Amino acid sequence: MSLELSAPAQSAPACADDGVWLECIECGEQFAPFEDIRYTCDECDGLLEVRYDDPPTFDEFEGRGVWRYNAGLPFEVGVTLPEGNTPLHEMPRLREDIGLKRLRVKHEGMNPTGSFKDRGMTVGVRVAKELGVGRLACASTGNTSAALAAYGARGGMETLVLLPSGKVAAGKIAQASLHNARILEVDGNFDSCLDIVQDLAAKGEVYLLNSLNPFRLEGQKTIGFEILEEHYEDYGEYPDRIILPVGNAGNTSALYKAFRELVQSGALDESEVPKLTGVQAEGAAPMVEAVRNGNDEVRRWDEVETIATAIRIGNPVNAPKALPGIRNTGGTAISVSDEEITAAQRDLAAEGVGVEPASAASVAGLRKLRETGEVGADESVVCLTTGHLLKDPDAAFAAGGDPEPVPNDTEAVLEHINAGSSPFGRLSQQVSKAADSPLLPALVGGGLAVGYLGYRKLRSKLE
Ligand SMILES: Cc1ncc(COP(=O)(O)O)c(C=O)c1O
Ligand SMILES: [Zn+2]
Repeated sequence: MSLELSAPAQSAPACADDGVWLECIECGEQFAPFEDIRYTCDECDGLLEVRYDDPPTFDEFEGRGVWRYNAGLPFEVGVTLPEGNTPLHEMPRLREDIGLKRLRVKHEGMNPTGSFKDRGMTVGVRVAKELGVGRLACASTGNTSAALAAYGARGGMETLVLLPSGKVAAGKIAQASLHNARILEVDGNFDSCLDIVQDLAAKGEVYLLNSLNPFRLEGQKTIGFEILEEHYEDYGEYPDRIILPVGNAGNTSALYKAFRELVQSGALDESEVPKLTGVQAEGAAPMVEAVRNGNDEVRRWDEVETIATAIRIGNPVNAPKALPGIRNTGGTAISVSDEEITAAQRDLAAEGVGVEPASAASVAGLRKLRETGEVGADESVVCLTTGHLLKDPDAAFAAGGDPEPVPNDTEAVLEHINAGSSPFGRLSQQVSKAADSPLLPALVGGGLAVGYLGYRKLRSKLE
């Protein structure tokens, strides 16, 4: 009940600190926010939410980045690099191709460490300082570890990150390493890493900064504030729908919380709340399964696999917060194949926006939902892209073209350039790459086959 869009603002309980407290979303138990360390409810182990007696209005926001929204955060300012204030790109060619009234891409890869996780960490590490803890830790598919390492370093704190061995993109480990986190590679998947780090946190060994920590989601909530403000400024109205990749469903929960708080304060009408639409990879889609089957609970998937390693997650811990968000806003969820993700990554890149595979899932999902008619041509849509291209150089290289070796001679280079400008120069490169790649069936289905046949025909004439 407490997660209804229409739930009214509450008055502060006795345990509140300056109008801020923690509340269990299952049983309603309330706790002081900064006296003890807790991540879930003492009574029923339910998820906790940060609550305010005075939810924010748009008029109160001033400054730039995450801390512009401090009227809706537990502190005035945090450990900052700074973060937020990311671009909301127009995508005219993609919009035309997909067939939509409006399409904008909110590129969270433009945060200081290259993902939206920075928004959560600037608040989370500030809370860690308030609590006086020594050692910070997280389980991660990569981006959380990069952000925690950087913000921990900024805050002068020790950090420990647990990663699934062999399943983290190169750029992310490089960041955690250089920012001097201790990197523990676990012989298991992300969900096993989270099990272990939760055990360590329960033993008091570490302060947990995964999105199970309700303060992380406070920072991520600012993505919602920022999108609404920017969209309104440009068009005089809010977007109809926000489409985002889903792993642990932290962002889905956080955006929904941003909307609920604006509705509570009277800044936003219930009818103006965008439809939250989640996208998962086919090989890791427990949330989609729950939404599509109308289940109230999410079944843990023990085996998960996808090229989008950031969302290779089988047990989305924030599902109890995110499912009501999708349902109560009239949104939906859909899964996409790895081939569809790579195609969307190329689509974004073709308009200058470089993202990692998990991020492209939002655009892949949009295309699919337009094809099925679940998203209408008259909609204004914002897709969230969560991480930067350079996070996963291997995936970028596999999706893009190869460097061409040339002789150290201008004439020879010119000859090579002209030879390569024939329609099949570049195409042959893509086809030979595709033949080595598990993506071949999709590329063929996607129309490359037609081009390839044409190319062979042309080539056989020339030979
Ligand atoms: C790039 C990227 N996209 C999406 C996600 C999933 O986000 P969430 O856990 O909020 O659903 C993650 C985090 O795991 C990520 O790193
Ligand atoms: Zn409870």
